[in-house]
Amino acid sequence: MMIKQIAAKLDELLEWEDGTAEPLLELPPDAQLGDFAFPCFSLAKTLRRAPQQIAADLAQRFEADGVQTSASGPYLNFKLDRGRYAPQLAEEAKVGRPSSIGDGRRVVIDMSSPNIAKPFGVGHLRSTVIGAALYRMYEAAGCRPISVNHLGDWGTQFGKQITAYKRWGSEERLNRAPIRESLDLYVRFHDEAERDDTLEPEARDWFRRLEAGDDEAVRLWRYFVEVSLAEFNRMYDRLGVSFDKVLGESFYNDKMGAVVKELREKGLLEESDGAQVVRLDDEEMPPCLILKSDGTTIYPTRDLATALYRHDVLGAEELLYVVGAEQSLHFRQVFAVLRKMEREWASSCSHIPFGLMKFEGKKMSTRRGKVVFLEEVLDEAVARASSIIENKNPQLANREAVAEAVGIGAIIFGDLKNNRIGEIDFSLEEAVQFEGETGPYVQYTHARSRSVLRRAAEASGAVSFAEASADYEWNQTSWELLKRLGDFEAELRRGIQRSEPSVIARYALDLAKLFNRFYHHNKVLTDSPNERAVRLELTLLTADRLKWTLDLLGIRSPEEI
Ligand code: ARG
Repeated sequence: MMIKQIAAKLDELLEWEDGTAEPLLELPPDAQLGDFAFPCFSLAKTLRRAPQQIAADLAQRFEADGVQTSASGPYLNFKLDRGRYAPQLAEEAKVGRPSSIGDGRRVVIDMSSPNIAKPFGVGHLRSTVIGAALYRMYEAAGCRPISVNHLGDWGTQFGKQITAYKRWGSEERLNRAPIRESLDLYVRFHDEAERDDTLEPEARDWFRRLEAGDDEAVRLWRYFVEVSLAEFNRMYDRLGVSFDKVLGESFYNDKMGAVVKELREKGLLEESDGAQVVRLDDEEMPPCLILKSDGTTIYPTRDLATALYRHDVLGAEELLYVVGAEQSLHFRQVFAVLRKMEREWASSCSHIPFGLMKFEGKKMSTRRGKVVFLEEVLDEAVARASSIIENKNPQLANREAVAEAVGIGAIIFGDLKNNRIGEIDFSLEEAVQFEGETGPYVQYTHARSRSVLRRAAEASGAVSFAEASADYEWNQTSWELLKRLGDFEAELRRGIQRSEPSVIARYALDLAKLFNRFYHHNKVLTDSPNERAVRLELTLLTADRLKWTLDLLGIRSPEEI
């Protein structure tokens, strides 16, 4: 686009290698100054002149059709002939142009990964929402993502679960509210185990039977997995998320032997307090535990087998793990062991960490005491959205569906607008508002642009955008909106480089703000055919782009709110 053409001219003028000037171009602090600015500080040394002089001199010598230059202090500013460049910009701003970012590489994304028979925690919500957004961003960029839900479906806790279920459980309750019942059983087990010391040995025995493939143990375990998963799936449906693969930890039960064997053969295993570990002193990390003293494998061993499977069988060229920051050490250890196993592709494994999210200062806890269930949070958001909509637009058709879209959208956006690594103090009250930096604000702006288009459809003009643009008085709000519309590809590139869906969320907010400013200052449905044609095109480009960015984030865009 334009920035490339200007940068190429600068390279020519300064006798620089192609591509040198482009990354140096900036946006002027005040859009009135120009469309791009070139800071001349770095040239002062080689040219032995003051940057102000260099800027003034370049302003004289730079020549390109339809580009005006001016020096302001040490900056060289470029101003485009708006009427002339608008059609090219509008063309570039269209949704659906093939992306030039991706190279078709296969990216396996580990996301969501909740634990069976335990509540779906906030960490799992963040992993689901961030992972799903990254998935769509990769796809949009032309990569081949594969999402994997790495369910926590194995471990000694299933021995406890079976014991508790057999003693106090009810099939009817478990079917009705699987997670709640599982949690009650879990809490009761720990309460009673304080008094009754037959419980722990019984649980260990059940887990031993499960590992040995005992019929009853396996049947009960399967049943727990099934009902928990059904409940998770209900949540995934509401969040609009699906997975290419659901491969729980149990899937790797028969794949860890080979890992342990290889580690042993390569002389990487060492004994430590009866357990087998891989020492990571050279990397300044504590040892990675591979086999417990009773010979059972654990979490890191499973992740080693998992990584090998993703690379060797799924063909992953890049492996992403969207998991809370508290597991950073675990992933650094696993990747280090992979390097020691001489898997040079270990360098394509990345942990994509994220921070804690609190609800109005409260943690969503899964231990005893207070537990907030994700479903309750979703329901609450939808109820609030519903009452706001009822006030705003009591006539709205299919209000329930719109409230669901707005309530869920509020939660997803409230998460994704933040840098993923920071802590979030989530306020439902704020997140569902139609003003401020919220999902509903973007959804509402989208619906507003659609409603303008619906009204316009009744009497459409016949002037083409290119013709109309040449005569259009390109005021600041129209021009800034158009320019920002063209930034999508660059924002997507940045979002992927940094594994940050917030880049896209921020872009959507920006676009919504610019559209509202434009809409406030420019009457779209005017009698002037030129003005109408240009403004309608801007409205259409905005509507389509807002919808597309919301799609990427996993948020629905109702036509009317
Ligand atoms: N189930 C785990 C937890 O809740 C997260 C699993 C993350 N993925 C992985 N490959 N370790 O903490």
